[in-house]
Amino acid sequence: MTAMLELAGLEKTLNRRKVLDGLTLDVAPGKSLVIIGGSGVGKSVTIKSAIGIMRPDAGSVRIDGEDFLALDRVGRERAVRKIGMLFQGGALFDSLTIWENVAFRLLYADSVPRKEARERAVEVMRKVRLAPDFANLRPVELSGGMQKRAALARAIIGAPKLIFFDEPTTGLDPITADAINDLIVEMVKELGSAAVSITHDMASARKIADEIAMIYQGKIIWRGPARDVDASGNAYVDQFVRGSADGPIQAVV
Ligand SMILES: Nc1ncnc2c1ncn2[C@@H]1O[C@H](COP(=O)(O)OP(=O)(O)OP(=O)(O)O)[C@@H](O)[C@H]1O
Ligand SMILES: [Mg+2]
Repeated sequence: MTAMLELAGLEKTLNRRKVLDGLTLDVAPGKSLVIIGGSGVGKSVTIKSAIGIMRPDAGSVRIDGEDFLALDRVGRERAVRKIGMLFQGGALFDSLTIWENVAFRLLYADSVPRKEARERAVEVMRKVRLAPDFANLRPVELSGGMQKRAALARAIIGAPKLIFFDEPTTGLDPITADAINDLIVEMVKELGSAAVSITHDMASARKIADEIAMIYQGKIIWRGPARDVDASGNAYVDQFVRGSADGPIQAVV
């Protein structure tokens, strides 16, 4: 079966540091992969490279079998429609209302009339348990958990076949985080999408992952079924899972 996402040999140097150094990863249709790794190892850079926000120095990105980096503008716009993204921190537009944020793609890429776009936004908001009363509010008027719901709604509104979640639960209390994780699992299942999520939080990783992959020094150093993460036989993974300062990974403080 063609992978929904296939990253091969990605390299990226930023500020003279080789952040990605031959990163290779694939995700099958309908599967949920969680990427773990310390702060600054290049998790977000990996996702940004996959969706075309950053251009890797070397390597290839295939989305649904297509060579993404070789596509022309029209081909790329078509490919991007298969993708949904929840950015680290939510990244809602402050000056837009919640429904306009949720419907952003419909309004600004698909030229859907405002009335229809609003209706569709409210429908997706309902799916992520955001009441229609929130539709006309601005992001600052929502709690962090509600903002994440809005960001999740924005990520799924186009029914993407491939969805990226960058730290969807960071900064939330454990109960709200769990509710967001439940929603992610529910939405991904309903859409039948492949999902790539980044998290620091092992409770979240265990909940949403079919598979877990760990990044260290620009590469995937371990990958396996989520249930194997406690018995990976890899000292780096063990240290991360235990959340310990003792081990081969040195914290930079
Ligand atoms: N646009 C950029 N320009 C220059 N350097 C960047 C840029 N984006 C990321 N970096 C650098 O690349 C490295 C990896 O960043 P990245 O955001 O991928 O980390 P991360 O693994 O997502 O960390 P965190 O868990 O803290 O979000 C960092 O050293 C960061 O400073
Ligand atoms: Mg990040």
